[in-house]
Amino acid sequence: MSILDNRPALAREVGQVAEVAGYLWQKGWAERNGGNITVNITEHVDDAIRALPAISEPKAIGATLPHLKGCYFYCKGTNKRMRDLARWPMENGSVIRILDDCAHYEIIADLPVMPTSELPSHLAVHNYLISKGSPYKASLHTHPIELVAMSHCKKYLEKDVATRLLWSMIPETKAFCPRGLGIIPYQLPGSNILAESTIKELGDYDVTLWEKHGVFAVEADIMQAFDQVDVLNKSAQIYIAAKNMGFEPDGMTDAQMHEMTVAFKLPK
Ligand code: 13P
Ligand code: ZN
Repeated sequence: MSILDNRPALAREVGQVAEVAGYLWQKGWAERNGGNITVNITEHVDDAIRALPAISEPKAIGATLPHLKGCYFYCKGTNKRMRDLARWPMENGSVIRILDDCAHYEIIADLPVMPTSELPSHLAVHNYLISKGSPYKASLHTHPIELVAMSHCKKYLEKDVATRLLWSMIPETKAFCPRGLGIIPYQLPGSNILAESTIKELGDYDVTLWEKHGVFAVEADIMQAFDQVDVLNKSAQIYIAAKNMGFEPDGMTDAQMHEMTVAFKLPK
């Protein structure tokens, strides 16, 4: 028995996570257990799910997150591989319930798979999204090679330098990632300070770059979160390909960027 049985909407949601996990592996962004995904699945929760007993002890979140009261999440398991999750999402991830104190959670299905070590960032971000009335339900952390490489250079860590460069590589990047790329200075993986710094930037950006580590993206569903990272990393690849051919790419001109911003009705 699985929590997904006879729940097509929930099964579809988790199936989409599995599909994206496969793409992350194929792209080389998910070495070993690299990266993690959480999805707020509360809208798919029925009385039978609410009545399910816990299959773990209550575990501390590490913060009190008042907007998560009564919420349920699908979480990738810590130390689990994306390439395994792609085939067996309920053996490499689990469903958790946030307890009424908003400071603890318990695992309820299918197996007691311990959630990702980046849970502090994921849950703090979901708490923030709900507090803002955001329709976003999915968060993705992954290790895209070219974007991480760029984060090793101080120049690209200055506010909006990488955003403008990446937008100018190909018109669609601004169209499909209109809020650009926020920058988070290096912090210890899995730490609360990393979670807090990420939230600060999500007011202005859907995708943030964790210096020398990876990206953290939010969107309505996990496919759209993946798409935003994919278009940004594609631009980084174009930039690097041009550099490898021995020249600095011109990039779209300011006039071309402006024309496209108006035509696609994008934010400035
Ligand atoms: P987990 O295996 O705990 O999800 O960690 C992977 C990772 O990328 C940490 O930043
Ligand atoms: Zn990571």
